[in-house]
Amino acid sequence: MTNHEIKIAFEEYPSIHELNGSDQNLCLEAVNATANSHSPYSKFKVGAALLLQSGKIIHGSNQENVAYPSGLCAERVALFHWGATYPNDPIETIAITAYTDNFELIKPVTPCGSCLQVMAEFEKKQGKPIRVILYCIDGPVWITNGIESFLPFLFFEDRLS
Ligand code: THU
Repeated sequence: MTNHEIKIAFEEYPSIHELNGSDQNLCLEAVNATANSHSPYSKFKVGAALLLQSGKIIHGSNQENVAYPSGLCAERVALFHWGATYPNDPIETIAITAYTDNFELIKPVTPCGSCLQVMAEFEKKQGKPIRVILYCIDGPVWITNGIESFLPFLFFEDRLS
């Protein structure tokens, strides 16, 4: 038997003010995106903003449904919009934030497994990693370069051959 250990890397900044201008702006775009969240059931508003290589910014927000599984997370709303509309303009960075009136968020929200799997697919498709910025107003900012930090045992296409 052999024991293995996998380390993941991410940067932590005490607040948004420590980020460069472009990253700060993308966090604020993610906050703007929460305005269109449709979350009457969870009352948990999530916003995502994608910065594309061209400089274009795409928004996504969680869209819930009375038939709960029919809803979709903010990240996938933004990512599928990208895939359907700007597939040849690579994604540089995604910023994700969340807000609720019900309690104070003191740690960033990390994307669910399905959203990570979709990010992984699009990283593969565009041939380069997507930086991920996790931001919440009253907590630190976490940044990873690519989604492998979240999913070190990701199911890669080469496992199919
Ligand atoms: N949600 C997201 O939009 N993204 C995440 O990363 C986590 C969860 C949404 C789904 C649902 O509308 C609400 O947050 C509560 O789970």
